[in-house]
Amino acid sequence: MTSALTLGDVLRRAAEHLGKTSETGRLDAEILLAHSLGRKRIELYTDFDRPLSGAELDGYRALVARRAKREPVAYILGEWGFRRLTLAVDRRALIPRPETEIVVERCLARLREVENPRVLDVGTGTGAIALALADELPGSRVTAIDVSGDALALARENVARTGLDVELLEHDLRSGIPAGPWDLVVSNPPYVEPDELDSLIPDVRDFEPHLALVGRGATEALARAATAELASGAWLVLEVGDGGRSLAVALLDELGYVEVTTTADLTGRDRVVEGRRVGD
Ligand SMILES: C[S@@+](CC[C@H](N)C(=O)[O-])C[C@H]1O[C@@H](n2cnc3c(N)ncnc32)[C@H](O)[C@@H]1O
Repeated sequence: MTSALTLGDVLRRAAEHLGKTSETGRLDAEILLAHSLGRKRIELYTDFDRPLSGAELDGYRALVARRAKREPVAYILGEWGFRRLTLAVDRRALIPRPETEIVVERCLARLREVENPRVLDVGTGTGAIALALADELPGSRVTAIDVSGDALALARENVARTGLDVELLEHDLRSGIPAGPWDLVVSNPPYVEPDELDSLIPDVRDFEPHLALVGRGATEALARAATAELASGAWLVLEVGDGGRSLAVALLDELGYVEVTTTADLTGRDRVVEGRRVGD
């Protein structure tokens, strides 16, 4: 049965409804409608006058209701773009963020001259960083670890989905990192302080795994462990949270890393800190 509502009507109402809780209400409404109809977002624009069927309306309403309860769009879609890949995402792991694409860029810049580099991604979640590096650095040998069995199961699905070669290991960073020598160690470690959890937006706090968000001392544990496992001249590349730059730079300096540098993300926030291991 056809409902009395056109695609344009439905979109307008959904955008208004979602706009009450999301800064990107209109965009969310469009992405969810395109997904629900199995169309590209751009295709909606030529179809505003088309009446929706009752079944189409019901399907869309269910997705809008989830978003109105603050579930992230990525979890509703079940997949999300990262660099050149489309990865499976769900509540087992953090949704890969645009700023983490810059972390990958920095790794590529550091590894450009290294033949068949051995790379370790610590706290891989969906596998985003590890898989992007395997994809964009042919010849690299990438290993990824995570303490979460759930996250690793999802990363395994993404290895199968992309057909890329990444070794996955269940491993707790607090007992060190797998033996090197690594040509590069990269991580987007959990960097929210436990007392900051309540101040996060509900989309993050109530849906993403707390193990991926909160991890006191993870950055320090990794920077220390990596000193023993990085090849001489190799790089440690770290994503840091808002305001985390100074601490990370001081830590790397103290641990004897050299050429410690920072890169900002597209919004101008210092986001990536990297340093080089020398000696031995
Ligand atoms: C901020 S998420 C990053 C996920 C992914 N690398 C990304 O950038 O989208 C941090 C990840 O570190 C993992 N993690 C937390 N504590 C850990 C530990 N002690 N050892 C290894 N991994 C850990 C979490 O399970 C989570 O997947």
